[in-house]
Amino acid sequence: MFFKSLMAGAVAAALCVGVASTSARAGECVLSPEAQSGQAVSKQCMSCHVIEADKPSRPTAPNIHEVFGSLPAGRKDYSYSEGMTGAAAKGATWTEEALFDYLADPKAYLNRVNGAEVKHKMFFQLKDEQKRHDVVAFLKAIKGKPDCN
Ligand code: HEC
Repeated sequence: MFFKSLMAGAVAAALCVGVASTSARAGECVLSPEAQSGQAVSKQCMSCHVIEADKPSRPTAPNIHEVFGSLPAGRKDYSYSEGMTGAAAKGATWTEEALFDYLADPKAYLNRVNGAEVKHKMFFQLKDEQKRHDVVAFLKAIKGKPDCN
């Protein structure tokens, strides 16, 4: 009798833990609809970039999980172009506007910020304004949230 109720208690406790951890996981990464659209767009970035917190960069491109609001060329584990390190030296910051411009035309953005023709390394352009807007919203939303990728 006593044993039986102990068991029932243990089962209930186990169930509780299961439910609690599931809802905690689901609760940690809540994205707005636009950030969710941006998450879909970010799949295109992942052919070169890592967008997972605490993961090293790949040789193809830096990890950009924490890039929003940071200085350009901030990763120690990636070898950036002179255009990107130059942009950091000029005091550029990855604001919404800067990311929006950079993604449309990385070369043009870096030339403008550096005030000269510079070398750059991101041979990809995202011309679609809505997609750019959404992917920037996504990068903003995941900053500092390791469970959002
Ligand atoms: C074909 C590969 C490729 C794709 C696809 C790509 N990138 Fe990049 N990206 C790069 C490379 C390479 C760099 C480093 C550029 C440099 O040093 O000039 C870079 C740099 C960046 C940076 C600056 C990182 C820093 O640390 O300052 C951001 C932000 C960025 N990319 C965002 C994106 C987003 C968002 C997408 C998808 C919409 C994307 N990229 C798609 C290759 C790519």
